[in-house]
Amino acid sequence: MKQSTSFHVAIVMDGNGRWARRRGLPRSAGHRAGAEAVRRVVKVAPGCGITDLTLYAFSSDNWSRPAAEVTTLMRLFARHLRTETAELAAQGVKLSVVGRRDRLPRSLVSAIAAAEGGTAQGTRLTLRIAVDYSGREAIRAGALLPDVDLLIRTGGEQRLSDFLLWECAYAELWFTERMWPDFGASNLAAAIHEFHSRDRRFGGLPTQEAV
Ligand code: IPE
Ligand code: IPE
Ligand code: MG
Repeated sequence: MKQSTSFHVAIVMDGNGRWARRRGLPRSAGHRAGAEAVRRVVKVAPGCGITDLTLYAFSSDNWSRPAAEVTTLMRLFARHLRTETAELAAQGVKLSVVGRRDRLPRSLVSAIAAAEGGTAQGTRLTLRIAVDYSGREAIRAGALLPDVDLLIRTGGEQRLSDFLLWECAYAELWFTERMWPDFGASNLAAAIHEFHSRDRRFGGLPTQEAV
């Protein structure tokens, strides 16, 4: 069995738009509420034993959304990075953004560089935010991340949507109907609790028979 002290959780943060629509709000309000959920989850992650947290924020296929929504998201990412850098550094978080940068607005590219520079000393948690990310392209470019232990997807869909295809080879999958803006510490704890109850065999035999 694979022994490791790292614990890599990856999250497909889905459901912002539906969360907003149900409240009669614009989709942008859902994305803003989603950013708050990111803050909550990052804060409790190290206490849950997570050493690596990778969050899917914008897929390469999300460029097909209306321009106004894309612009809102890009601005939200840049603002969030700028306002959160000091707090992330104080929490011992090392932030890195994965995915293509050549199609991002220049202001976002510089916000990313500043946030990565400002959190480079973090050792408690490696936080990766996937922006303009495609799992297939990452494989083609050899831009591979550590293996994922637990993959969480909110929003009710049960698919990967081109996220961490290679890295999820033996990930435990956990899906919830809960929309991302409603996701919090107790939901993360529930997912991790279930993860620890699963028998990860990696092609071998169940733990009690593997003597
Ligand atoms: C996830 O929420 C955020 C992004 C993909 C940027 P969605 O925007 O996909 O929300 P739904 O799935 O439409 O509810
Ligand atoms: C996946 O969500 C991408 C992110 C959460 C960033 P989507 O909403 O884009 O996925 P599909 O379209 O339902 O597969
Ligand atoms: Mg969606």
